[in-house]
Amino acid sequence: MNDEWVRSTVRDIPLYYNPKVKAVRMDTSVNVLGPNTVVRDVLTRAMDLDLNQYPSPYSDGLREALAGKYGLEADNFVVGNGSDEALDTIFKSFMEPGEVVAAPYPSYVLHGFFVKVNGGRFVTADLGPGFQLDADALLKVGAKIIILCTPNNPTANTFDHSEVERLVSEQDGPVIVDEAYGEFADASFMSRVEEFDNLIVTRTFSKAYGLAGFRVGYMASNLKMANVLQRVKIPYSLDRVSEMAATAALTNPEYVERAVAAVRSERERLSDGLRSLGFSPYPSQSNFILFRSPRPSAELVERLAAKGVLIRDFGRLRMLEDCVRTTIGTPELNDMLLSRLREVMEEW
Ligand SMILES: Cc1ncc(COP(=O)(O)O)c(C=O)c1O
Repeated sequence: MNDEWVRSTVRDIPLYYNPKVKAVRMDTSVNVLGPNTVVRDVLTRAMDLDLNQYPSPYSDGLREALAGKYGLEADNFVVGNGSDEALDTIFKSFMEPGEVVAAPYPSYVLHGFFVKVNGGRFVTADLGPGFQLDADALLKVGAKIIILCTPNNPTANTFDHSEVERLVSEQDGPVIVDEAYGEFADASFMSRVEEFDNLIVTRTFSKAYGLAGFRVGYMASNLKMANVLQRVKIPYSLDRVSEMAATAALTNPEYVERAVAAVRSERERLSDGLRSLGFSPYPSQSNFILFRSPRPSAELVERLAAKGVLIRDFGRLRMLEDCVRTTIGTPELNDMLLSRLREVMEEW
């Protein structure tokens, strides 16, 4: 292969995070209660599905169910193969090659990935003190599109709602509010998509709903924008079983409520435990905690993985030097994490 054949905007894209260690996964911020309790029933029913037939091209059944949940119309929603596909579809729909997308830094690494693979230019504006959003710095970039997530990954805090609202109001172009961890936070922009001509909110079944292995996400926006997004999205991208699982999960709010309650009751205890071991946790409004290690973070993650627990290193990123992120687990998981961390620190 001639290197020149590779599209210039993707030449420097590395492979995504793909750890090979066998360990308890506390590195991906999924639901630690385990898979959604609807899964067994869904898979049993799936045996009777005619899987020789294509799914609904636009996952109409799931979009109807989402409309019922949020009091919007089915056509406000576009469903994707994970909210990652939703993000990809947004850039395919609204970004010309070479156009600029602005995002806060540090934030979700795949936001930049989707901009680059679609030929755009990704420009960041640093978060302010307390990892808070600097709306003016983002607006000043003069980007066609702005993307942010709240709660923010990996810092775990939510952005000031009124600052996000100001950003949406003042930006002349699409603003994407990624609410992948929205169920764990108090405020959401989901119900407000018809109020703005430029707001797109994305959500996922991978986190609070406990269905990461099925890959289901969605986005909502006003009807006009959603129509564009729907026409660009790859038809049939969500398979029949995944659509069935997500639709069933919406009828099981008790599982999500239990997950959210479990996270809320453990958040402070885990933070306190980390602090007592000499780490510096940042405040979290999500199901994960970012904390700074007094020792080199890459080695901390490695030593902990050798003891069977995987957390994620962010220490190579500017502003996150020696920071790592852990999912907030059940009391048992958190106790295990803390005791292994204690061993690591004592042995070090
Ligand atoms: C902020 C953020 N957005 C989107 C996603 C992607 O979620 P999905 O599994 O729905 O593709 C993640 C996954 O970690 C995330 O952290």
